[in-house]
Amino acid sequence: MTTVEAETAAPVTEVTEAQVLAALSQVQDPDLHKDLVTLKMIKNVKICEGSVSFQVELTTPACPLKAKIEADCREAVGSIPGVTNLKIEMTSRVIARRPLGGKLIPNVKHVIAVASGKGGVGKSTVATNLAVALAQTGAKVGIMDADVYGPTIPMLLGVEDEQMEQTAVRLPDGNVVPRIAPVESHGVTCVSMGFLIEPGQPVVWRGPMLSKVVNQFLGEVAWGELDYLLVDLPPGTGDVTMSLSEAIPLTGAVIVMTPQDVASSIAVKSLRAFQKMNVPILGIIENMSYFIAPDTGKSYHIFGHGGGQEAAEELKVPFLGEIPLDIPTRKGGDEGQPVLISQPDSLQATVFREVAGRLAQQISIQARQFRPLPVM
Ligand SMILES: Nc1ncnc2c1ncn2[C@@H]1O[C@H](COP(=O)(O)OP(=O)(O)OP(=O)(O)O)[C@@H](O)[C@H]1O
Ligand SMILES: [Mg+2]
Repeated sequence: MTTVEAETAAPVTEVTEAQVLAALSQVQDPDLHKDLVTLKMIKNVKICEGSVSFQVELTTPACPLKAKIEADCREAVGSIPGVTNLKIEMTSRVIARRPLGGKLIPNVKHVIAVASGKGGVGKSTVATNLAVALAQTGAKVGIMDADVYGPTIPMLLGVEDEQMEQTAVRLPDGNVVPRIAPVESHGVTCVSMGFLIEPGQPVVWRGPMLSKVVNQFLGEVAWGELDYLLVDLPPGTGDVTMSLSEAIPLTGAVIVMTPQDVASSIAVKSLRAFQKMNVPILGIIENMSYFIAPDTGKSYHIFGHGGGQEAAEELKVPFLGEIPLDIPTRKGGDEGQPVLISQPDSLQATVFREVAGRLAQQISIQARQFRPLPVM
């Protein structure tokens, strides 16, 4: 009886790994314009009768397209005949643009300069909030406060009273060397001149000394493994910027501007300066774009509108977003509680997370696009 039943039952459709991979090779990464199989993003395919599971390894935990990619995978594999149960795990591994900095910072995958043409546009505030936003996605993030004349990162991260301690690091060759331990706050590690000078003391340094500080902040700090190291630069593209881009290959630069900067084209000049140094522009961020009155909800464009987007279009660089002028952001900066920590559900925090996601996207694109130059 049993034998007869087995013979007459409809043949069970065996799902194969080849079928799963064929389905996933139809799913594109919208940023990298290739399919997930070609990009080697599919890991650990497991099939047990109709149950299929696999991992999708994204190039950043901050990927804004995570939900779309997962839905596309679900649709593609879910429509294979015989698939009754589907488990997709979204993971990430930030790929380095290339081996960075040799012995200076061998375990830092991306160094990103945060720059502006003129002062006071909110570079440090934006850099701090983006760093916290990236860290909250699970990425390992550091900030180097390269504004040696006016260091503000310790205040923005609420660690003004802390100091950088001495530590020791074992190198791959077994040698143990002294290093400076960065200070950690809100999931972000940082170094700053602010930890080394007395409050209120002016810093009077010239070019060669500045380049020494930049090199020390890179090579003599125990950064450990980092996915993203954001460098908060002083305004303009002076000695510090030059020293940085000479010391290590930067993944790219982000230009922060306010809407009215476009008229004076200072932001554009700083952007061009990076391009001359062969540093890719990851995008423009417009800060202080608009103000939403908390009592009426009405939006005001205090400094004009759309300048950042226009500049990005004109210069053919990505536009990463508009950040509103917002009282808790200023207050959070003064009190060392970034708005992502003090008001994580606010519009401002959401905007910072979106901009951080777009920045991470551009970093991934740069990392994938990079091809080593032919040896001459
Ligand atoms: N989106 C924002 N909403 C409200 N206040 C902001 C915003 N961005 C920056 N600020 C405030 O503007 C002031 C200048 O910001 P910040 O110090 O970040 O600028 P900066 O470009 O780093 O300046 P500098 O060129 O001096 O380094 C600070 O008081 C900061 O709190
Ligand atoms: Mg600053």
